[in-house]
Amino acid sequence: MSTTQRIGRARARANIALAKYWGKADVERNLPAVPSISMTLDPLTTETSVEPRADLLRDELILNGTPAAAVEVARATQLLDRVRAEAGVHWRARIESQNHFPTASGLASSASGFAALAAAARCAAGLPFDAAATSALARRSSASAARSVYGGYVELPAGLPGDDALAALPLAPVEHWGLCIVVAVTAEGRKAVGSTDGMTHTKLTSPYYDAWVEAAPALAAEVRAGILARDLGQVGRAMEQSTLAMHACALAAAPGLIYFQPATLAAFARVRALRSERRAEVYATMDAGPHVKALCHAADATAVSQALSEVPGVLRTILAGPGPGVELV
Ligand code: PMV
Repeated sequence: MSTTQRIGRARARANIALAKYWGKADVERNLPAVPSISMTLDPLTTETSVEPRADLLRDELILNGTPAAAVEVARATQLLDRVRAEAGVHWRARIESQNHFPTASGLASSASGFAALAAAARCAAGLPFDAAATSALARRSSASAARSVYGGYVELPAGLPGDDALAALPLAPVEHWGLCIVVAVTAEGRKAVGSTDGMTHTKLTSPYYDAWVEAAPALAAEVRAGILARDLGQVGRAMEQSTLAMHACALAAAPGLIYFQPATLAAFARVRALRSERRAEVYATMDAGPHVKALCHAADATAVSQALSEVPGVLRTILAGPGPGVELV
């Protein structure tokens, strides 16, 4: 192996969408049909290394210390193929990726995982660090991963079919606003229907899909304006509407996609009760899974966490503030 080859190492964090992405404008290029806005989460990191190896015939992927399933290796290879084509290199790599999430946090690791892999792979290939190129590369594998390339508050615009360079954009840095997300974990294990399958099924069968795509940009605009003005009420109201509209659209698919568990609705109701009883200014959002993520001021996070822990069916809570974007380490 030549001495110019290097190991690329990167760290990235999970993110939660305050304005949701659901639906693809271009499946082949993985372009979202709607804009989304997220907060990058501080304590939930993935660290990934990409080691070019002359002795390998195919890429290897070790996930959390264990060889990954073939389908996961194939997704990593697709990303590496794009990097190899851009850099004009032909090596295969050993990839090691470790999630430093609280045990069984119930949070998807695809966003942090693909953001870290994109940065580490470009570094290993000798490409200079370029946030927009890293974000566009991560987006091809998982659109939410495009957002984890940046810290703080981040927007991923909707894509036009064919727009291969679509990348996320930083909206406001970590220091802009110290909000907190309290994750109420309501179930163990993997979700029943993954986001890509769920989106495709919704687009093909839900009579509300077009209405969702039409409504989503205005909700994202409200979330964006609320973040820039540091107005939690404005962000929170639009965030709840965005998540409920996304789920309404998925619920109306045939057969309907129900990501909620009884504890999901109970936790959601508790968030609204905390608000109506004026105990905390807090709003809720849910992704393609049963967990509830409550958004509040950092000063209210302990009280919100305590209240959500008492909801029957909530297994534990995790507190996360805004965190930085991808880092080469
Ligand atoms: O990018 P994916 O395939 O992980 O899809 C993310 C979909 C949601 O989490 C439901 C919404 C979002 O914008 O993160």
